[in-house]
Amino acid sequence: EKGGWSSFMAKEISEQPEAVANTLRSRITPEGHIDIPELAKVVADTQITRVVFIACGTAAYSAMLGAYAMEKWAHIPASVELSHEFRYRDAVIDAHTLVVSVSQSGETMDTLMAVRHAAEAGATTVSICNTQGATIPRESTATLYTHAGPEVAVASTKAFSAQVVATYLLALAFGEARGALSAAERAELAEALLAAPDQMAEMVQTGERIHELAHWMADTHSVLYLGRHVGYPIALEGALKLKELAYIHAEGFAAGELKHGPIALIEPGQIVFVVVPSPRDPRSLHSKVVSNIQEIRARGARVIALAERGDAAVLPFADEVIALPPAHTFVEPLLAVIPLHLFGMELAMAKGLDVDQPRNLAKSVTVE
Ligand code: M6R
Repeated sequence: EKGGWSSFMAKEISEQPEAVANTLRSRITPEGHIDIPELAKVVADTQITRVVFIACGTAAYSAMLGAYAMEKWAHIPASVELSHEFRYRDAVIDAHTLVVSVSQSGETMDTLMAVRHAAEAGATTVSICNTQGATIPRESTATLYTHAGPEVAVASTKAFSAQVVATYLLALAFGEARGALSAAERAELAEALLAAPDQMAEMVQTGERIHELAHWMADTHSVLYLGRHVGYPIALEGALKLKELAYIHAEGFAAGELKHGPIALIEPGQIVFVVVPSPRDPRSLHSKVVSNIQEIRARGARVIALAERGDAAVLPFADEVIALPPAHTFVEPLLAVIPLHLFGMELAMAKGLDVDQPRNLAKSVTVE
């Protein structure tokens, strides 16, 4: 039931901190030990030399974060493929490949078929799933359930956040098993992840501000989203939500791609959301993204920056700044996604649309 909420989607966005806390619960100790008995055998399999995540839609964006984490924390080559592409392109898969499917419903036909295809080719399969006993987990070697609770709105929100941390847990489990992470690194990551739900709860509070923004933009025809590294999947996710809920043309780009084409789209008044890396980022990604903001601003874009609280470098160039509490790099996407989920919902509401049941879409796509 949606209780006092205006929609299931509003309720489910507000449940994101809980979805993450429940998915982490009892699986990660403050020292960074991963305790997930259902994964023990797979994680101990030293034959596995690479990981391929398969998923569709929002689940595929969570998988991108999982692949980044897998390479960084476990040093295992990892990639992401859309299930429907993976299955038909003669991908090289064998007994050394771990194929990780990510699916809220566990019934998405494209993903199910891709899992079967992988199993036939001899791969080990892990299912990250939110639905107990669904077909994909039943057919997989092992399952890591997300505990987001039932998700009713067609647009995926709390399941996404839970999927992100589930992929992180898998990466940490491999990182620990393969000795790729020091005890200190594991403890730092554990602390960061366990702190995420409270930080996410702060982001849920941006609702009113986003409501105002959405009303100001209700007649817009195009919105762009830019992000880099962990912000890139969030840009894609923000754009998908706007398409499916508000029926507005939206695109997410890796910020580094701007000058390779998309900057030609910028004209006066173009709305651009930018997920800004923390100024503490050691790879100077922050200043690169701030330069991107200057470039698009100079061409008339209206910039809404999602930036760390106190990030003074962004202020002179952004029309609006949504502040994020300072967090670990891999927690930042869990924070930035919430205002983007809220924005998709609010813009749809401003247009008088049904946010729980957008046109032409089904909650789970059980046909190819
Ligand atoms: O149930 P699944 O996670 O396999 O569903 C995958 C996609 O169909 C789903 O995430 C879809 O993109 C959502 N409507 C996005 O909000």
